[in-house]
Amino acid sequence: MKTIIEPFRIKVVEPIRITTPEERRRLLGDVGWNLFGLHSDDVIIDLLTDSGTSAMSAEQWSAVMRGDESYAGSPSFYRFESAVRELMPFRHIIPTHQGRAAEAILFSIVGGPGRLIPSNTHFDTTRGNIEATGATAVDLVIAEAHDPDSPHPFKGNIDLARLERLLRDQGERVPLVMLTVTNNAGGGQPVSLENIRAAAEVARRHGKPLIIDGCRFAENAWFIKCREPGQADRSVKDIVRDMFAVADGMTMSAKKDAFANIGGWLALNDDMLAAAARNRLILTEGFPTYGGLAGRDLDAIAVGLHEIVDEQYLRYRVRTNEYIGEKLTALGVPIVQPVGGHAVFVDARRFLPHIPPLEYPGQSLAVALYEHGGIRACEIGTVMFGQRPDGTEVAADMDLVRLAMPRRVYTQSHADYVVEVFEDIVRRRSELRGLRIVSQPAQLRHFTARFEPLQ
Ligand code: F0G
Repeated sequence: MKTIIEPFRIKVVEPIRITTPEERRRLLGDVGWNLFGLHSDDVIIDLLTDSGTSAMSAEQWSAVMRGDESYAGSPSFYRFESAVRELMPFRHIIPTHQGRAAEAILFSIVGGPGRLIPSNTHFDTTRGNIEATGATAVDLVIAEAHDPDSPHPFKGNIDLARLERLLRDQGERVPLVMLTVTNNAGGGQPVSLENIRAAAEVARRHGKPLIIDGCRFAENAWFIKCREPGQADRSVKDIVRDMFAVADGMTMSAKKDAFANIGGWLALNDDMLAAAARNRLILTEGFPTYGGLAGRDLDAIAVGLHEIVDEQYLRYRVRTNEYIGEKLTALGVPIVQPVGGHAVFVDARRFLPHIPPLEYPGQSLAVALYEHGGIRACEIGTVMFGQRPDGTEVAADMDLVRLAMPRRVYTQSHADYVVEVFEDIVRRRSELRGLRIVSQPAQLRHFTARFEPLQ
């Protein structure tokens, strides 16, 4: 069959409140044109993030009831640990309340002033946790990643020559090498198995552990199966095991590829590092058999991990974004190619060339999507990255708008609606105007800045 259907039926529904453009214009004024300020029940299609927004399955909800809330030694923990280990064979699996807690614990141990932490591209919480210790986060993604039109199949790959050079010249400053799969900040682009293995080999030769930020590991494995020579006939589960077999540990947000609404973990092979991490965990998260989670959350993750490597699901998952990407391309809306695993990234700077970067074309497009269609997306551009510590601002590399797809939540007609709203915006694009920031905090301004549209 040609149509790739949603491989599930819907048993529980959440009503969507349909707002009017007039209502949305008023709400935009109330929140200072910052979409993070909206109440989510004023949003028709919420593509702000794929994190924690998954629909859990009937099996996951059943597992929630099985959750055992004992403080120490809960069977929920052992079910969680064995589900993780079935895919990622690490010695120590340490639950945390979400991904950034795992990052904070790891970098509180290995970070510190003068240290360098290389990765393909650090996600912003990873970068933030590294920098909070005084260390420096270094992005070494391949050059193709910076070209939105490059059709490279693995635009998340780390540049091995630059990694080698960094380790050769400044190796004593580098405690570990990271790899983010898929590369969220770089457009949800995958990393090839060959690149993961080669990065592990370079790291090992220099005596450094490789730690994978595995938030979207299953989507990454699916891309390996579809795109990497020699992988087509292998199961996603086997590919996942291969991805992690060469690593020394991982950080994970179970809010992505574990279908959970909360949760994460830090996994490590090194006994000393794991002991230090557990000590820190007890201070900040909780006892090592629950971390920052309830037993029921651990059980939901355990079941989610079985479901996420289902190939029918992954085929549908990746197809959903490709489908939107193809329709937007046909409308002449420039997007980052190829379409990523969890999101479509629209190139707002190219779509709105009459709006200069310091008038925030990404924010302008995100605001228009809400005003005209009630869609909430996320600016990933000059608003997010353009603020410098001295209060001045610079244009970001790109001004993108991310349409992140929650897992198992929206249907094809929701996707068609998103495309229709874009059709309307394409007609009005010359009317779209930039914005000016009227107030902002000293850091992470995208969450709370207030804007005003320019006339
Ligand atoms: N690493 C990556 C690659 C991520 O995308 C995220 C979260 C994290 C780490 C942190 O995990 O949220 O559980 O603490 N990304 C979300 C997003 C917030 O919208 O992309 P967390």
